[in-house]
Amino acid sequence: MLREIFEQPEAIEKTIRPRLSLEDSRIKMADEVNIPAEELRRLNRINIVASGTSRHAGMAGQYMFQELAGIPVEVDYASEFEYRNPAIGAREITIVITQSGETADTMAAQRLAKQKGSRTIAISNVEGSTIAREADGVLYTYAGREVSIASTKAFSAQMAVLFLFAAYLGEVRGQLSHEALKSWIEQLLVLPQKAETTLESSEPCRRLAESFQHAEDFLFVGRAIHYPIAMDGALKLKEVSYVHAEGYPTGETKHGPNALIDENLPIVMVMTYEPGNPGSLLRYEKNLSALRGFKNQKAQVIALASENDKQVPALADHTIFVPQTSELLAPILEIIPLQLFAYYMAVIKGLDVDKPRNLVKSVMHE
Ligand code: BG6
Repeated sequence: MLREIFEQPEAIEKTIRPRLSLEDSRIKMADEVNIPAEELRRLNRINIVASGTSRHAGMAGQYMFQELAGIPVEVDYASEFEYRNPAIGAREITIVITQSGETADTMAAQRLAKQKGSRTIAISNVEGSTIAREADGVLYTYAGREVSIASTKAFSAQMAVLFLFAAYLGEVRGQLSHEALKSWIEQLLVLPQKAETTLESSEPCRRLAESFQHAEDFLFVGRAIHYPIAMDGALKLKEVSYVHAEGYPTGETKHGPNALIDENLPIVMVMTYEPGNPGSLLRYEKNLSALRGFKNQKAQVIALASENDKQVPALADHTIFVPQTSELLAPILEIIPLQLFAYYMAVIKGLDVDKPRNLVKSVMHE
């Protein structure tokens, strides 16, 4: 797991670079997507279906598609998809996300979507996997073989390829100007280096795990595109350290979980922001007031903040800094310290980090 966490800069680079055409600042994806541009222009909706960590990537993708391509997105648990008898029309595509490409629930969901007339795009990390072979289009993540049961490098690579697909769709549908695309490409090119910098939080995360090794529960919170990162941070801790952890939208804590919050429930807040982005700054202000509220309730708060943030360290008990980037790309960096925290918590507890009990790398039976 630790090696795969440290392979993320390379996984992101290998997943992004082949799809970038720097000469004309375009994203090259038409062959892989394998759906005519005309059909992509007429699309009404995107369904995303996946399991586990892959579904959290889909939740982050939802924000990327809606912002960059202006297309509504629904995200489903693969294991629940058939039960809601999804009304899928011809002018929709279904994206199935799966590291292994063999997860039974996700495979069944793809087959159901096809039955209902939807084109499918598979995002997989395993070339030639069943789900990839059965899809109309395939976008591979080039994260390299992922052995550890808890998914790390495949997750950041999934979010990177979802971002590329959203930007590609945005351009094809005339939602994204060429200038805007050029600026996104510049930001993508420096993302691997920023992931490298984020790995420098390894030692502070180890110290944090040490100081919180006796905590029995954690609450991870995030707003908007950061909420799926809170979800996956909680999942990582559950998967490898067997400590109960819940991911929750920050604003939703007022409607229930607040009753749980006191000195015994450490809170991990994902609260980076993008200077110059009014929506992001508004959310940041709301996060600061939530942080003050949690402190008034004597909670121990670990905050994930943007580099050079002066306000958060003054309020939170512990702050881990993440390099500055756009809000839509920040999740790809934010997950790294949360993976490291979970990893060190498992090591401190003497657990088998790569093969946690009761889990397998791919659930191939429904
Ligand atoms: C679980 C793995 O079995 O399946 C998780 O332990 C993973 O790490 C989930 O996220 C989904 O797997 P896949 O291969 O479909 O992404």
